[in-house]
Amino acid sequence: MGRNWAKNLRDCPEVKTVGWMDIRPGAPQAAIEELRLSDVPGFDDLQKAIAESRPDFVVDVTAPEAHYSVTLAALAAGIPVLGEKPMADSMERAREMVAASQKAGQLYMVSQSRRYHAGAIALADLVRRHLGPLGILNSDFYLGAHFDGFRHEMKNVLLLDMAIHTFDSARHISGADPVSVYCEEFNPSWSWHKGADSAVALFEMTGGLRYTYRGSWCAEGLSTSWESQWRAHGPGGAAVWDGESAPVAGVVCGKEGLIRESEKITAKLPEKYFGGIAGSLREFLEALSTGRKPQGECHDNIKSLAMAFAAVESAQTGRRVPVRGI
Ligand SMILES: NC(=O)c1ccc[n+]([C@@H]2O[C@H](COP(=O)([O-])OP(=O)(O)OC[C@H]3O[C@@H](n4cnc5c(N)ncnc54)[C@H](O)[C@@H]3O)[C@@H](O)[C@H]2O)c1
Repeated sequence: MGRNWAKNLRDCPEVKTVGWMDIRPGAPQAAIEELRLSDVPGFDDLQKAIAESRPDFVVDVTAPEAHYSVTLAALAAGIPVLGEKPMADSMERAREMVAASQKAGQLYMVSQSRRYHAGAIALADLVRRHLGPLGILNSDFYLGAHFDGFRHEMKNVLLLDMAIHTFDSARHISGADPVSVYCEEFNPSWSWHKGADSAVALFEMTGGLRYTYRGSWCAEGLSTSWESQWRAHGPGGAAVWDGESAPVAGVVCGKEGLIRESEKITAKLPEKYFGGIAGSLREFLEALSTGRKPQGECHDNIKSLAMAFAAVESAQTGRRVPVRGI
């Protein structure tokens, strides 16, 4: 993902990369060479990298357990941070990171790249304009993923590494925040992951919305999109999104009969836009120059992280548990 970010930064005219740091010796040099970023110095020590390259901001694309130390070091040096999800590997650490951002008076934004997918933006817009406050929201995520790296060993790999995206999207689409969750985590008999790679969860959200999540990272064949498949219901009707094409709404227009008539509305997707991490980079830069609070700002993003950790706690205790952010 560090390489993806390096390309994203290279392709943004407002940004110049002034250093690449990784604790694995030789890793920055190998990536710099591969991506032909010959004028970018490589470092294996963060303090040295900050002191010598004096960046205006740090992009933290390290493994989840390193987000805490990297982000705290940058914030302590008075440097804003755009970090990868999940914010941290525990709620305690995440709360410390939010407090550090506050203390330093510097922006810490978590890049939730799926918020910048044109279909997700269009679905959130359909909900707001036609459906009204949602009462029902469902998402399905079924993909078989054979990873190298930290995910192979990671506990709760689906909930903490992937479902965090989908949970955050549920907040984006509905505009609601989490209240409580009941969740079961499991590994199907053929699973190849050490940590739990499948889960079902039922969230109560503000306004009484019930959001159901079903997902698996060892479900091969007939995959869903990485964005998940969605169904939303509100007083104005329903909307569905397959995670790829334009979302569709059925807006109730009939006033009588057993089944009321509804009008089909297909969302229009923009032809040109900055999607994924290019979108989060643009929003971060805009926030730095205007002071406007971006999506993913740590005080808000911690609510999505809290959904993932509360789901893990529910799966471990077998109980419905409250979801608390800060
Ligand atoms: N938004 C997305 O769609 C998306 C996709 C993939 C990964 N990610 C996120 O990006 C992050 C990285 O994922 P990845 O797949 O590239 O992981 P990876 O394991 O392939 O790479 C992580 C890198 O971090 C380095 N690292 C570890 N500790 C460090 C430290 N203290 N200081 C500096 N470098 C350190 C490692 O040496 C390694 O090179 C994770 O948080 C992951 O969840 C996001």
